[in-house]
Amino acid sequence: MHKKLFIPGPTEVRKEVLKEMARPMIGHRTQEFTDLFAALKPKLQRLLYTQNDVLISSSSGSGLMEAAVRNCVGKKVLSCVCGAFSAKWADIAANCGKEIEKLEVAWGEAIKPEMIEEKLSQGGFDAIHLTHCETTTGVLSPLAEIAEVVKKYPDVLFLVDTVSSLGGIKVETDRLGIDICLASSQKALGLPPGLSVASVSLRAYERAKTITGRGYYFDLLELKKSYDKNQTPYTPSISLFYALNRQLDYILEKEGLEKRFARHKKMGRLTRKWAQEKGFELFPEKGFESDTITCLTNSRTIDLKRAKEEQKKKRYQFDAGYRELNAKLEKEGKPSTFRIAHLGDIKTSDLRKLLKELEALI
Ligand SMILES: Cc1ncc(COP(=O)(O)O)c(C=O)c1O
Repeated sequence: MHKKLFIPGPTEVRKEVLKEMARPMIGHRTQEFTDLFAALKPKLQRLLYTQNDVLISSSSGSGLMEAAVRNCVGKKVLSCVCGAFSAKWADIAANCGKEIEKLEVAWGEAIKPEMIEEKLSQGGFDAIHLTHCETTTGVLSPLAEIAEVVKKYPDVLFLVDTVSSLGGIKVETDRLGIDICLASSQKALGLPPGLSVASVSLRAYERAKTITGRGYYFDLLELKKSYDKNQTPYTPSISLFYALNRQLDYILEKEGLEKRFARHKKMGRLTRKWAQEKGFELFPEKGFESDTITCLTNSRTIDLKRAKEEQKKKRYQFDAGYRELNAKLEKEGKPSTFRIAHLGDIKTSDLRKLLKELEALI
């Protein structure tokens, strides 16, 4: 029995996309693959609102998070931390031997432009990494306002994780001056896991040229050489490339970007309204809730363990809480959280059904 996924990734994958993955294999050094790669480029540029290259990596998003810090940080990176995934990016940078300085807020709060201004104005930074939607807490940091601050510091490269927002919320890479905008396949793009994409600005490539120890697999300059030939330096996950091509046609032509963003907005609003009506507080700071994932405080102290058990018998799956966050809250004597993810190709009608079903559990 397939369970419809309302978890924050992997998300539902449409049958038509799954079928693409069953195509017979082709060699990656063939004209056929080169044509496929060439076809993907302009579609990805439309998705990310950019003229920059959009690299495709046969890795999950964490790989490109490593690529971004490894290739773009020479001096010191401002690591904006507001949950587990943004903390992970700071760890990745530190593990790559980079000097980091954290701008950390309590989980559930957003990173604000004035906080960034205060840090960057102290000088010494040549990059900043920001997580647009912090999946652990459902917080969406104000990207456009933050971008205005970062623009004032021309030596600072702007690295943005849009893993759980791209494809559900508009991200205008070029207008916002984002140097690296990265995302994974298994979230709002509605694809299986195993692929990730990242736009790379000319400034980012220029920075990479000045940096030693870029490694091998995620060396942006090597990736660029192949990209220009519609190729990858290593064997790509060809089946996922087919799936991406089919899904981009669906997103861009069949549904349309604006309609897709509007659908996510509607699902976000619907879930928040439901939460409030049912007596659950929202975990994110007011005004910074993401339209892709809703994180609820279990203020009614429903038995989440039982709910998790009960849902095993149902045709859906929601997230009974991010373990690390709930452990942290428990220690502080605060109520735990759970998440309802509404991203990718989930329909509003499916979400309504889920919410109805959940009512039986609470
Ligand atoms: C905001 C965010 N960043 C990064 C990641 C890591 O991405 P991946 O699991 O594709 O490596 C995740 C995964 O859930 C995420 O939600």
